[in-house]
Amino acid sequence: MKNIVVIGAGTMGNGIAHVFAMHQHDVTLVDISQAALDRALATITKNLDRMVKKEKITAEEKQQTLDNIQTATNLETAVANAELIVEAATENIELKLKIFQQMDQAAPEGAILATNTSSISITKIAAVTQRPDKVIGMHFMNPVPVMKLIEVIRGYATSDAVTATIMDLSRKLGKVPTEVNDYPGFVANRILMPMINEAIYALYESVAGVEEIDTVMKLGMAHPMGPLQLADFIGLDVCLSILNVLHEGFGNPKYAPCPLLVNMVTAGYKGRKTGEGFYQYTKGSKDLVVAPRFQKCKKEG
Ligand code: CAA
Repeated sequence: MKNIVVIGAGTMGNGIAHVFAMHQHDVTLVDISQAALDRALATITKNLDRMVKKEKITAEEKQQTLDNIQTATNLETAVANAELIVEAATENIELKLKIFQQMDQAAPEGAILATNTSSISITKIAAVTQRPDKVIGMHFMNPVPVMKLIEVIRGYATSDAVTATIMDLSRKLGKVPTEVNDYPGFVANRILMPMINEAIYALYESVAGVEEIDTVMKLGMAHPMGPLQLADFIGLDVCLSILNVLHEGFGNPKYAPCPLLVNMVTAGYKGRKTGEGFYQYTKGSKDLVVAPRFQKCKKEG
């Protein structure tokens, strides 16, 4: 499988393009915005530079990787010779359904259509195409070049052959694919998001402060980031939207998002990307600083 098209040049899309290109695939990165494509190439270059500096790849491998990537703003022409398309557009169901209809019409008959959705039903996406057997979830984790997992999600109609192809391809990318079925949140977010939500509830109920909650999970459970820092990293709006998918999909109140999370997202405090969530972020600084409003919220006595 040589020709790969990645739709969407955001954080996940550029990471996915980076990984395929580093493994000798010809990658076309597609976005409606040329500015987003330029930013994506700058990010990929920066991440490759970091890998060269750490001697994980050579300067030649960096150049080869960049040479393997081209960009495009027209989806129809970009997918005309694709063997695999990985959609990593904004997590919006209407947008994804539209993109899948377009891809289905413009891509070769045998092409596999994958989505990097973190929570939208693969079965629902597949149902708007004429090839539901060739639609599959490839859920990469952020940061894509670093994280080993690909959660491979089989829709209700995904064929065994397509699943086997994607599992094999994922291994060739140096990743560890894990096959799961298509139910709300799949496995990763069905388990991760209730943990994050519970951490937010613990803060909301003043059981402990931001730093204390994250320290318990970092040092007690050897998580690289505490749940509140991870929520900021993922984006609080993304966490809220996944919790809503779990809540609606299972109809179980245990998934109801914490009112504090709802308030923060409504007010525009969405975590790292907006400069503030549970922590405050300053450009150029790696220091982890608790947001001022959470600095004095430990339970008294
Ligand atoms: N590209 C390439 N390499 C990168 C990178 C990138 N974008 N970002 C970090 N790295 C590398 C660094 O070079 C470094 O390599 P070495 O270990 O060889 O030195 C390594 O990753 C660690 O980076 P740092 O030292 O800069 O930072 P760190 O030690 O604090 O680790 C982290 C950063 C890898 C992000 C770590 O904190 C971590 O694993 N956090 C948890 C991430 C996580 O849980 N991701 C999943 C989120 S959920 C999701 O994505 C799906 C969803 O549906 C919501």
